[in-house]
Amino acid sequence: MNSSQAAPAESSAPPVAVHKVLTGQKALVTGANSGIGKAVAIGLGQAGADVVVNYVADDAAADAVVEEIRKSGARAYAYKADVSSEDQVAAMFARMMREFGTIDILVSNAGLQRDSALHEMTLAQWNTVLNINLTGQFLCARQAVQEFLRRGVVPSVSSAAGKIICMSSVHQEIPWGGHVNYASSKGGIKLLMESMAQELAPKRIRVNAIAPGAIRTPINTSAWQTKAAYDALMTLVPYGRIGEPEDIARAAVWLASDHSDYVVGTTLFVDGGMTLYPGFSTGG
Ligand code: BGC
Repeated sequence: MNSSQAAPAESSAPPVAVHKVLTGQKALVTGANSGIGKAVAIGLGQAGADVVVNYVADDAAADAVVEEIRKSGARAYAYKADVSSEDQVAAMFARMMREFGTIDILVSNAGLQRDSALHEMTLAQWNTVLNINLTGQFLCARQAVQEFLRRGVVPSVSSAAGKIICMSSVHQEIPWGGHVNYASSKGGIKLLMESMAQELAPKRIRVNAIAPGAIRTPINTSAWQTKAAYDALMTLVPYGRIGEPEDIARAAVWLASDHSDYVVGTTLFVDGGMTLYPGFSTGG
């Protein structure tokens, strides 16, 4: 391992998608200018979907994701909107209907952390995390489902009337002291996703979630940037490496495609075994 770099350098990964399993489909990825959302948006584009790249800050980063998607031959544009704003979400979907005509895939990925010990956590820290991570998923899902119900199944496009992928976290299962706002938002996503899945499956709408573990993104640089931090992180990851955004993108392409057509209301953990309670391999 390079001593100046804690996490092993990213390998030059093959494309996320090699088959155009999403040809003709229209996707919206929220929080798609960086990290997991960026990799998912590019992966869906490689799989043949046209993609709306939602973001809330950093126009240049969002434009770069759009350029990358266009290289694979798909259509894409960037759209700035705060997913916790009802009006901005409505406007984002109205534009998508004008540009792409419909939506087939929603990846509700936008999320953030505002970490604090409980006794010092401000209401603003609590509300910001709940509003973006949880209410944002509700607002985007409601808009997408209205269109899925209006349009119904188009067999030449997909077996389902629509697919929603909720980006959750291992912290929908693992309690996380110092992060109660974040863990509460992810626990909320679990039952939001499962309740939507139960309600909407009869309409042929598939709702599922991905629960990433520790992925190398800007949200958690403090967990992997130094060697000490990376070594400590690895005690929590039985598989012995940090996750890459592309690990999540591959799961998202599969969950969005008809290859997972009978997968309904499931959370796919992509976490290197983090949820296996690794401390118990030697204790308990
Ligand atoms: C958090 C990261 C954290 C990971 C594993 C994610 O949901 O956003 O900060 O490293 O969970 O604990």
